[in-house]
Amino acid sequence: MTSIPSPARAAAATAAVLLLHFGLAAPSAATGPTGTAHEARQGHGAPLVIGHRGSAGYRPEHTAASYELAARMGADYLEPDLVSTKDGVLVSRHENEIGQSTDVADHPAFADRKTTKTVDGWEMTGWFTEDFTLAELKTLRAKEARPELRPANAVHDGRYPIMTFQEVVDLSRTLSRRLGRTIGVYPETKHSAYFASLGLPLEPALVRTLDANGLNRPNAKVFVQSFEVDNLRRLDAQLRVPLVQLVWSADQVTPERLREIAGYADAVGAEQTMVIPWREDGTLGGPTALVRQAHRLGLAVHVYTFAAENEFLPAAYRSSANPADHGRLADELTAYFAAGVDGVFSDHVDVAVAARRAHGHR
Ligand code: G3P
Ligand code: CA
Repeated sequence: MTSIPSPARAAAATAAVLLLHFGLAAPSAATGPTGTAHEARQGHGAPLVIGHRGSAGYRPEHTAASYELAARMGADYLEPDLVSTKDGVLVSRHENEIGQSTDVADHPAFADRKTTKTVDGWEMTGWFTEDFTLAELKTLRAKEARPELRPANAVHDGRYPIMTFQEVVDLSRTLSRRLGRTIGVYPETKHSAYFASLGLPLEPALVRTLDANGLNRPNAKVFVQSFEVDNLRRLDAQLRVPLVQLVWSADQVTPERLREIAGYADAVGAEQTMVIPWREDGTLGGPTALVRQAHRLGLAVHVYTFAAENEFLPAAYRSSANPADHGRLADELTAYFAAGVDGVFSDHVDVAVAARRAHGHR
């Protein structure tokens, strides 16, 4: 990697950008929600902008700061990934291994919790949420998980605790009041079968939390997503909110499989090249049939994951050879909006909201 900006310089640049966006934070039609979940899954309304792990391009992921920034930048939904603690509490982390995203390695009291496990076929060494009570996890602080790529975010290391799912719901409500529009939540169950095998199933706690908050109803601003199938099928009988089947390969969206998905879910959450493939020359190809086929079945299509760094962009959209530099994400997103997608997960919420507006949506 070349020419990574110093953390201080990058932080200053980010601060300038954020000042600009705080100016966009006032409640107004221009920054308001673009449609209900119902509209989205019917393929109506403007595409949703889902704040991926908050706005993880600008703050350590899954922190209150990341979620708040996403909302202030115009996200329609906050996206918490959910794993379980030892005492069965849902907390917002992308992985149950927390060595990369927290300061757990700096806590001598937890040194003996470091271990090696196989989770969904992947062997990992580190510290795992299921080995900590919530009270223990609350003594940790989040840190930037990709500091080589996002050095400016590391200035926020050590400031924010791990959040429970309930705290994310509470925050979405607080932000909804402050911003004058409803900020939705879009939780993802992570490693569902694995946690069930430990006696710590995620789904009962998820259903309980949505029930307790009055959010288990069709017009609540909630989507529930999973890469796994069995838990979504079971949740279909327990939840009245739309469900999203996450997919990553073409064999998961054959016509037959899409019909099956339409039997229990309301949307597919597709990896981005399933909707628009990348050509060998680094340009975007023409859209696949996925959006058209899904829409025919009444399924919305939400696409993951968009981020501004060159590392995540097709070559033709990169700004330099430096993976950490920002490239032409807005142009990439424009192609997806033109392809008719119903939502995008973005680490850089401001770019997605601006691209959506430039594409003609409010
Ligand atoms: O949930 C959509 C997208 O977030 C899936 O990828 O690995 O970031 O959870 P991941
Ligand atoms: Ca996710």
